[in-house]
Amino acid sequence: MSTALLINGKQKAQELTVTIKEATLKLKQEGIIPGLAVVIIGEDPASQVYVRNKKRTAEECGFSSTQHSLDKDVSEQEVLNLIKTLNEDSAVHGILVQLPLPRNLNEELITQSIVPEKDVDGFHYINIGKLAAGDLENAFVPCTPAGCMLMIEDQLGKDLSGLNATVIGRSNIVGKPMASLLLQANATVTICHKATKDVPGIVKQSDIVVAAVGRPDMIKGNWIKPGAVVIDVGINRIEVEENGEMKSKLTGDVDFDEVVMVASAITPVPGGVGPMTIAMLMFNTLRSAKNSQ
Ligand code: GUN
Repeated sequence: MSTALLINGKQKAQELTVTIKEATLKLKQEGIIPGLAVVIIGEDPASQVYVRNKKRTAEECGFSSTQHSLDKDVSEQEVLNLIKTLNEDSAVHGILVQLPLPRNLNEELITQSIVPEKDVDGFHYINIGKLAAGDLENAFVPCTPAGCMLMIEDQLGKDLSGLNATVIGRSNIVGKPMASLLLQANATVTICHKATKDVPGIVKQSDIVVAAVGRPDMIKGNWIKPGAVVIDVGINRIEVEENGEMKSKLTGDVDFDEVVMVASAITPVPGGVGPMTIAMLMFNTLRSAKNSQ
């Protein structure tokens, strides 16, 4: 039996970045420079890495990019004041507040204070509502599910009629918007979560599996329908022993070594979903800049 095709998210993201860079050059000739403002609060090491990558890619695309690093003890009012300034700044087209936030800050209050027109993360209720209603033309779609969808389309086309899709995880950032996108593409969609009775049994009937749980190597080879397309959103840091030494390693929610033997296509971790998330953030920011014309 042949092993699954490896979906190269890194390469696809680089191709998208080139296209975005070209579109940005054109927009600049019309006097608009796409502007992305990234707000990071506290010292979470993973968030620091993500934000650095976002800033670097924004610069690669030719955007103007600003980073606002705030202390973990910043008051909610100070954060809201900063967002108000960014909301009103015509040079800023996209505003992103990196999550998770320190415990003392109200995530809902802060994400909802970004005006929907600059909400390139797609977290504002207006954008959530547009996506749920199927208005993809006008919604900002959250970056991770948007990137997953492009990789699924590459394998199966834009119309998923007759295909079963299972999303494992029901977060607002990934699981729920992912399910909306799959439904909009005519897939028959199931969302599994903590209270689901028979996750392996449901996954076994699925032509498309998107795993976004945050549990290393949870999805096993014998859960997978032969030929399924498997998208692994998980980024879990685990300790593994190598030559008698403990080393830190990134792994997904999918047991890659098992599933690669059964699926038709699979995203690796790292190099699958991660780079696509960043590319979609650039795509959303470019779109916002165009909308501002
Ligand atoms: N933290 C993890 N993923 C994301 C994301 O897509 N956007 C933001 N703002 N924070 C995140």
